[in-house]
Amino acid sequence: MSQATRSARLRLSAGAPAARILGLGSFQPEQVVTNDDIAQRGVDTNDEWIRDRVGIIERRIAGPETSLVDMAVEAGAKAVADSGLTPSDVGTVIVANCTMPSGIPNAAAQTADRIGARAAGAFDVNGACAGFCYALGVASDLVRAGSSRHVLVIGAEKMSDWLDWQDRSTCIIFADGAGATVVGPAASAEEAGIGPVAWGSAGELVHTIGINLATHGLYQEGQAVFRWATTQIAPVALHAVELAGLTPADIDVFVPHQANLRIVEAVAKRLRAAGARADLRVADDIVYSGNTSSASIPMALDHMRAAGQVQRGEIALFVGFGAGLTYAGQVVVCP
Ligand code: UT7
Repeated sequence: MSQATRSARLRLSAGAPAARILGLGSFQPEQVVTNDDIAQRGVDTNDEWIRDRVGIIERRIAGPETSLVDMAVEAGAKAVADSGLTPSDVGTVIVANCTMPSGIPNAAAQTADRIGARAAGAFDVNGACAGFCYALGVASDLVRAGSSRHVLVIGAEKMSDWLDWQDRSTCIIFADGAGATVVGPAASAEEAGIGPVAWGSAGELVHTIGINLATHGLYQEGQAVFRWATTQIAPVALHAVELAGLTPADIDVFVPHQANLRIVEAVAKRLRAAGARADLRVADDIVYSGNTSSASIPMALDHMRAAGQVQRGEIALFVGFGAGLTYAGQVVVCP
Protein backbone atom coordinates (compact mmCIF):
# COMPACT_ATOMS: atom_id res chain seq x y z
CA MET A 1 0.00 0.00 0.00
CA SER A 2 1.44 3.37 -0.97
CA GLN A 3 1.95 6.23 1.50
CA ALA A 4 -0.59 8.31 -0.45
CA THR A 5 -3.32 5.70 0.01
CA ARG A 6 -2.60 5.42 3.76
CA SER A 7 -2.79 9.15 4.42
CA ALA A 8 -5.98 9.41 2.39
CA ARG A 9 -7.69 7.39 5.12
CA LEU A 10 -7.19 10.07 7.77
CA ARG A 11 -10.27 12.05 8.62
CA LEU A 12 -9.79 15.79 9.06
CA SER A 13 -11.48 17.93 11.67
CA ALA A 14 -14.24 20.25 10.45
CA GLY A 15 -13.49 23.84 11.30
CA ALA A 16 -15.50 27.05 11.46
CA PRO A 17 -15.65 29.52 8.55
CA ALA A 18 -14.12 32.18 10.78
CA ALA A 19 -13.30 33.00 14.40
CA ARG A 20 -14.29 35.87 16.64
CA ILE A 21 -13.77 37.15 20.14
CA LEU A 22 -16.72 36.16 22.32
CA GLY A 23 -15.65 37.48 25.72
CA LEU A 24 -13.14 39.70 27.47
CA GLY A 25 -11.84 40.08 31.02
CA SER A 26 -8.88 41.37 33.01
CA PHE A 27 -7.34 41.42 36.46
CA GLN A 28 -4.91 43.69 38.29
CA PRO A 29 -3.45 43.23 41.76
CA GLU A 30 -4.64 45.74 44.35
CA GLN A 31 -1.32 47.28 45.31
CA VAL A 32 -0.83 50.64 43.56
CA VAL A 33 2.80 51.80 43.26
CA THR A 34 3.26 55.46 42.33
CA ASN A 35 6.37 57.03 40.83
CA ASP A 36 7.05 58.70 44.16
CA ASP A 37 6.85 55.29 45.88
CA ILE A 38 9.66 54.04 43.60
CA ALA A 39 11.79 57.12 44.27
CA GLN A 40 11.21 56.64 48.00
CA ARG A 41 12.56 53.10 47.71
CA GLY A 42 15.93 54.67 46.92
CA VAL A 43 15.77 54.53 43.09
CA ASP A 44 17.43 57.59 41.52
CA THR A 45 14.34 58.76 39.61
CA ASN A 46 11.40 61.12 39.99
CA ASP A 47 7.74 61.49 39.09
CA GLU A 48 8.32 64.19 36.48
CA TRP A 49 10.92 62.15 34.52
CA ILE A 50 8.77 59.02 34.45
CA ARG A 51 5.59 60.89 33.38
CA ASP A 52 7.50 62.80 30.75
CA ARG A 53 9.60 59.99 29.24
CA VAL A 54 7.32 56.96 29.70
CA GLY A 55 3.84 58.34 30.47
CA ILE A 56 3.29 56.25 33.60
CA ILE A 57 1.63 57.82 36.66
CA GLU A 58 1.19 54.60 38.63
CA ARG A 59 1.24 50.83 38.17
CA ARG A 60 -0.04 47.71 39.96
CA ILE A 61 2.41 45.31 41.56
CA ALA A 62 1.45 41.87 42.93
CA GLY A 63 2.62 40.82 46.36
CA PRO A 64 4.24 37.46 47.12
CA GLU A 65 0.83 35.90 47.76
CA THR A 66 -0.30 36.48 44.15
CA SER A 67 1.22 34.42 41.34
CA LEU A 68 1.08 34.78 37.57
CA VAL A 69 -1.32 31.83 37.49
CA ASP A 70 -3.57 33.48 40.12
CA MET A 71 -3.90 36.51 37.85
CA ALA A 72 -4.45 34.35 34.74
CA VAL A 73 -7.26 32.48 36.54
CA GLU A 74 -8.99 35.71 37.57
CA ALA A 75 -8.86 37.26 34.10
CA GLY A 76 -9.68 33.98 32.35
CA ALA A 77 -12.74 33.28 34.50
CA LYS A 78 -14.07 36.78 33.81
CA ALA A 79 -13.62 36.34 30.05
CA VAL A 80 -15.44 33.00 30.10
CA ALA A 81 -18.34 34.51 32.08
CA ASP A 82 -18.42 37.48 29.69
CA SER A 83 -18.69 35.13 26.70
CA GLY A 84 -21.81 33.48 28.14
CA LEU A 85 -20.10 30.09 28.00
CA THR A 86 -19.23 27.80 30.88
CA PRO A 87 -15.66 26.68 31.67
CA SER A 88 -16.41 23.18 30.44
CA ASP A 89 -17.04 24.65 26.95
CA VAL A 90 -13.37 25.68 26.73
CA GLY A 91 -11.37 23.15 24.72
CA THR A 92 -7.99 24.83 24.84
CA VAL A 93 -6.32 27.30 27.18
CA ILE A 94 -3.33 29.33 25.97
CA VAL A 95 -1.44 31.54 28.39
CA ALA A 96 0.92 34.02 26.73
CA ASN A 97 3.64 35.01 29.18
CA CYS A 98 7.38 35.41 29.61
CA THR A 99 7.63 35.57 33.40
CA MET A 100 6.71 32.14 34.80
CA PRO A 101 9.08 31.19 37.63
CA SER A 102 10.38 28.25 35.55
CA GLY A 103 9.77 26.73 32.13
CA ILE A 104 7.76 23.87 33.65
CA PRO A 105 5.07 23.42 34.77
CA ASN A 106 3.38 25.74 32.34
CA ALA A 107 0.76 28.29 33.39
CA ALA A 108 -2.00 27.06 31.07
CA ALA A 109 -2.65 23.61 32.56
CA GLN A 110 -2.95 25.02 36.10
CA THR A 111 -5.16 27.83 34.84
CA ALA A 112 -7.41 25.41 32.94
CA ASP A 113 -7.80 23.23 36.01
CA ARG A 114 -8.56 26.11 38.35
CA ILE A 115 -11.19 27.76 36.15
CA GLY A 116 -12.91 24.40 35.63
CA ALA A 117 -11.86 23.77 32.04
CA ARG A 118 -10.69 20.33 33.14
CA ALA A 119 -8.84 18.26 30.57
CA ALA A 120 -8.64 21.21 28.14
CA GLY A 121 -5.58 21.36 25.92
CA ALA A 122 -3.19 23.73 27.65
CA PHE A 123 0.01 25.40 26.50
CA ASP A 124 1.95 28.60 27.04
CA VAL A 125 3.13 30.92 24.27
CA ASN A 126 6.22 33.03 24.81
CA GLY A 127 6.33 35.89 22.36
CA ALA A 128 7.31 38.32 25.12
CA CYS A 129 5.29 41.55 24.81
CA ALA A 130 3.93 40.33 21.44
CA GLY A 131 2.76 37.08 23.04
CA PHE A 132 -0.93 37.89 23.28
CA CYS A 133 -1.23 38.68 19.57
CA TYR A 134 0.69 35.49 18.72
CA ALA A 135 -1.63 33.44 20.93
CA LEU A 136 -4.74 35.11 19.49
CA GLY A 137 -3.55 34.28 15.99
CA VAL A 138 -2.99 30.65 16.97
CA ALA A 139 -6.40 30.46 18.69
CA SER A 140 -8.15 31.82 15.61
CA ASP A 141 -6.44 29.18 13.48
CA LEU A 142 -7.35 26.39 15.95
CA VAL A 143 -11.02 27.36 15.72
CA ARG A 144 -10.92 27.65 11.94
CA ALA A 145 -9.15 24.30 11.58
CA GLY A 146 -11.55 22.57 13.96
CA SER A 147 -8.86 21.64 16.49
CA SER A 148 -10.85 23.41 19.20
CA ARG A 149 -14.25 25.10 19.25
CA HIS A 150 -13.59 27.55 22.07
CA VAL A 151 -10.13 28.76 23.07
CA LEU A 152 -9.37 30.83 26.15
CA VAL A 153 -6.45 33.15 25.33
CA ILE A 154 -4.83 34.85 28.30
CA GLY A 155 -1.90 37.26 28.56
CA ALA A 156 -0.57 37.21 32.14
CA GLU A 157 2.64 38.57 33.63
CA LYS A 158 4.26 38.98 36.98
CA MET A 159 7.04 41.24 35.71
CA SER A 160 7.89 42.29 39.27
CA ASP A 161 9.39 38.84 39.95
CA TRP A 162 12.11 39.61 37.40
CA LEU A 163 12.86 43.26 38.11
CA ASP A 164 16.03 44.65 39.61
CA TRP A 165 14.52 47.36 41.82
CA GLN A 166 17.76 49.34 41.63
CA ASP A 167 17.81 49.46 37.80
CA ARG A 168 15.97 52.68 36.99
CA SER A 169 15.87 51.89 33.27
CA THR A 170 13.51 48.95 33.87
CA CYS A 171 11.90 48.98 37.33
CA ILE A 172 9.94 52.15 36.60
CA ILE A 173 8.34 50.68 33.46
CA PHE A 174 7.11 47.15 34.10
CA ALA A 175 4.10 45.98 36.12
CA ASP A 176 1.81 43.02 36.81
CA GLY A 177 -1.63 41.95 35.56
CA ALA A 178 -3.61 39.75 33.19
CA GLY A 179 -6.07 40.12 30.32
CA ALA A 180 -8.08 37.43 28.56
CA THR A 181 -10.36 36.71 25.63
CA VAL A 182 -12.48 33.76 24.59
CA VAL A 183 -12.19 32.88 20.91
CA GLY A 184 -14.93 30.88 19.23
CA PRO A 185 -16.55 30.20 15.87
CA ALA A 186 -18.36 32.73 13.69
CA ALA A 187 -21.36 31.42 11.77
CA SER A 188 -20.08 32.69 8.42
CA ALA A 189 -17.03 34.34 6.88
CA GLU A 190 -19.00 37.61 6.79
CA GLU A 191 -19.12 37.52 10.59
CA ALA A 192 -15.36 37.03 10.97
CA GLY A 193 -14.07 38.83 14.04
CA ILE A 194 -10.35 38.12 13.95
CA GLY A 195 -8.31 39.09 10.90
CA PRO A 196 -5.14 37.34 9.71
CA VAL A 197 -2.15 37.84 11.97
CA ALA A 198 0.83 39.85 10.72
CA TRP A 199 3.80 38.49 12.65
CA GLY A 200 7.53 38.29 12.46
CA SER A 201 10.80 38.68 14.30
CA ALA A 202 14.01 40.66 14.28
CA GLY A 203 16.39 38.18 15.86
CA GLU A 204 19.41 40.33 15.01
CA LEU A 205 18.27 42.57 17.89
CA VAL A 206 18.14 39.66 20.37
CA HIS A 207 20.61 41.37 22.69
CA THR A 208 18.38 44.39 23.31
CA ILE A 209 15.92 42.84 25.83
CA GLY A 210 16.29 39.82 28.06
CA ILE A 211 16.43 38.32 31.52
CA ASN A 212 19.80 37.68 33.14
CA LEU A 213 19.28 34.41 35.01
CA ALA A 214 22.36 35.01 37.16
CA THR A 215 21.00 38.27 38.55
CA HIS A 216 17.32 37.39 38.03
CA GLY A 217 17.02 40.83 36.44
CA LEU A 218 15.34 42.04 33.26
CA TYR A 219 17.58 44.27 31.13
CA GLN A 220 16.93 46.29 28.01
CA GLU A 221 18.75 48.69 25.72
CA GLY A 222 15.93 51.20 25.97
CA GLN A 223 16.99 53.60 23.24
CA ALA A 224 17.61 50.86 20.66
CA VAL A 225 14.20 49.28 21.33
CA PHE A 226 12.55 52.71 21.29
CA ARG A 227 14.05 53.49 17.86
CA TRP A 228 13.03 50.10 16.49
CA ALA A 229 9.48 50.33 17.85
CA THR A 230 8.86 53.85 16.57
CA THR A 231 10.08 53.00 13.06
CA GLN A 232 9.18 49.31 12.51
CA ILE A 233 5.86 48.78 14.29
CA ALA A 234 3.53 51.10 12.33
CA PRO A 235 4.26 49.13 9.11
CA VAL A 236 3.35 45.88 10.92
CA ALA A 237 0.06 47.40 12.11
CA LEU A 238 -0.71 48.68 8.60
CA HIS A 239 0.09 45.24 7.17
CA ALA A 240 -2.45 43.69 9.57
CA VAL A 241 -5.06 46.17 8.31
CA GLU A 242 -4.26 45.27 4.71
CA LEU A 243 -4.41 41.52 5.45
CA ALA A 244 -7.91 42.04 6.90
CA GLY A 245 -9.00 43.69 3.65
CA LEU A 246 -9.56 47.05 5.33
CA THR A 247 -8.01 50.51 5.15
CA PRO A 248 -6.64 52.53 8.09
CA ALA A 249 -9.80 54.71 7.99
CA ASP A 250 -11.87 51.64 8.95
CA ILE A 251 -10.17 51.35 12.35
CA ASP A 252 -12.13 52.71 15.34
CA VAL A 253 -9.73 51.84 18.14
CA PHE A 254 -5.96 51.32 18.17
CA VAL A 255 -4.74 49.10 21.00
CA PRO A 256 -0.96 48.66 20.77
CA HIS A 257 1.23 47.04 23.40
CA GLN A 258 1.55 49.55 26.23
CA ALA A 259 5.36 49.79 26.21
CA ASN A 260 5.81 53.53 26.56
CA LEU A 261 3.22 56.26 25.92
CA ARG A 262 5.67 58.04 23.60
CA ILE A 263 5.90 54.89 21.45
CA VAL A 264 2.09 54.51 21.44
CA GLU A 265 1.66 58.12 20.29
CA ALA A 266 4.43 57.89 17.69
CA VAL A 267 2.89 54.79 16.10
CA ALA A 268 -0.62 56.31 16.21
CA LYS A 269 0.74 59.41 14.46
CA ARG A 270 2.12 57.26 11.65
CA LEU A 271 -1.21 55.45 11.32
CA ARG A 272 -2.99 58.80 10.95
CA ALA A 273 -0.44 59.86 8.35
CA ALA A 274 -1.32 56.63 6.50
CA GLY A 275 -5.05 57.44 6.50
CA ALA A 276 -6.35 56.55 9.96
CA ARG A 277 -9.06 58.92 11.16
CA ALA A 278 -8.25 61.96 13.29
CA ASP A 279 -10.75 60.65 15.85
CA LEU A 280 -9.05 57.23 16.05
CA ARG A 281 -9.23 56.25 19.72
CA VAL A 282 -5.85 55.18 21.05
CA ALA A 283 -5.36 53.06 24.18
CA ASP A 284 -3.31 54.80 26.87
CA ASP A 285 -3.74 52.22 29.61
CA ILE A 286 -0.02 52.43 30.44
CA VAL A 287 -0.73 55.65 32.39
CA TYR A 288 -2.36 53.78 35.28
CA SER A 289 -1.29 50.19 34.57
CA GLY A 290 2.37 50.38 33.53
CA ASN A 291 3.88 48.03 30.95
CA THR A 292 2.45 44.56 31.61
CA SER A 293 4.05 42.86 28.58
CA SER A 294 1.74 40.20 27.11
CA ALA A 295 -1.16 41.27 29.35
CA SER A 296 -1.24 44.87 28.16
CA ILE A 297 -3.39 44.62 25.01
CA PRO A 298 -6.39 42.62 26.34
CA MET A 299 -6.23 44.56 29.64
CA ALA A 300 -6.25 47.90 27.81
CA LEU A 301 -9.24 46.88 25.67
CA ASP A 302 -11.12 45.63 28.73
CA HIS A 303 -10.47 48.91 30.57
CA MET A 304 -11.60 50.93 27.54
CA ARG A 305 -14.78 48.90 27.30
CA ALA A 306 -15.48 49.37 31.03
CA ALA A 307 -15.01 53.13 30.57
CA GLY A 308 -17.45 53.19 27.65
CA GLN A 309 -14.68 54.11 25.20
CA VAL A 310 -15.28 51.13 22.92
CA GLN A 311 -18.52 49.49 21.83
CA ARG A 312 -19.39 45.98 20.71
CA GLY A 313 -18.89 45.58 16.97
CA GLU A 314 -16.28 48.32 16.62
CA ILE A 315 -13.07 47.57 14.75
CA ALA A 316 -9.89 47.43 16.83
CA LEU A 317 -6.30 47.11 15.69
CA PHE A 318 -3.85 45.26 17.94
CA VAL A 319 -0.07 45.25 17.64
CA GLY A 320 2.42 43.80 20.10
CA PHE A 321 6.23 43.92 20.11
CA GLY A 322 9.01 42.99 22.47
CA ALA A 323 11.92 40.73 23.37
CA GLY A 324 13.26 38.48 20.64
CA LEU A 325 12.65 40.85 19.09
CA THR A 326 9.17 39.68 18.11
CA TYR A 327 6.10 41.44 16.78
CA ALA A 328 2.52 40.55 15.84
CA GLY A 329 -0.73 42.32 15.11
CA GLN A 330 -4.26 41.77 13.84
CA VAL A 331 -7.58 43.50 13.34
CA VAL A 332 -10.48 42.32 15.54
CA VAL A 333 -14.14 43.08 15.99
CA CYS A 334 -14.70 44.13 19.61
CA PRO A 335 -16.88 41.81 21.71
O1 UT7 B 1 7.83 46.35 26.36
C1 UT7 B 1 8.92 45.79 25.71
C2 UT7 B 1 9.57 46.72 24.79
N1 UT7 B 1 10.23 47.78 25.51
C3 UT7 B 1 10.13 49.03 25.10
O2 UT7 B 1 9.45 49.29 24.14
C4 UT7 B 1 10.93 50.10 25.82
C5 UT7 B 1 11.51 51.08 24.85
N2 UT7 B 1 12.36 52.10 25.46
C6 UT7 B 1 11.85 53.09 26.27
O3 UT7 B 1 10.67 53.11 26.54
C7 UT7 B 1 12.78 54.17 26.72
O4 UT7 B 1 14.01 54.07 26.03
C8 UT7 B 1 13.07 54.17 28.24
C9 UT7 B 1 11.79 54.54 28.99
C10 UT7 B 1 13.56 52.80 28.69
C11 UT7 B 1 14.12 55.21 28.58
O5 UT7 B 1 13.71 56.50 28.10
P1 UT7 B 1 14.70 57.37 27.20
O6 UT7 B 1 13.95 58.59 26.88
O7 UT7 B 1 15.16 56.50 26.06
O8 UT7 B 1 15.85 57.69 28.21
P2 UT7 B 1 17.44 57.48 28.05
O9 UT7 B 1 17.78 56.06 28.33
O10 UT7 B 1 17.87 58.07 26.77
O11 UT7 B 1 17.97 58.39 29.21
C12 UT7 B 1 17.86 59.82 29.17
C13 UT7 B 1 18.42 60.39 30.46
C14 UT7 B 1 19.78 59.82 30.83
O12 UT7 B 1 20.48 60.84 31.51
P3 UT7 B 1 21.63 61.69 30.77
O13 UT7 B 1 22.63 60.68 30.33
O14 UT7 B 1 20.93 62.37 29.63
O15 UT7 B 1 22.10 62.62 31.85
C15 UT7 B 1 19.45 58.73 31.79
O16 UT7 B 1 20.50 58.42 32.68
O17 UT7 B 1 17.54 60.04 31.53
C16 UT7 B 1 18.27 59.31 32.53
N3 UT7 B 1 17.36 58.30 33.07
C17 UT7 B 1 16.55 58.53 34.09
N4 UT7 B 1 16.35 59.60 34.88
C18 UT7 B 1 15.42 59.51 35.85
C19 UT7 B 1 17.16 57.04 32.61
N5 UT7 B 1 16.23 56.44 33.35
C20 UT7 B 1 15.84 57.33 34.28
C21 UT7 B 1 14.87 57.29 35.31
N6 UT7 B 1 14.70 58.39 36.06
N7 UT7 B 1 14.13 56.20 35.56
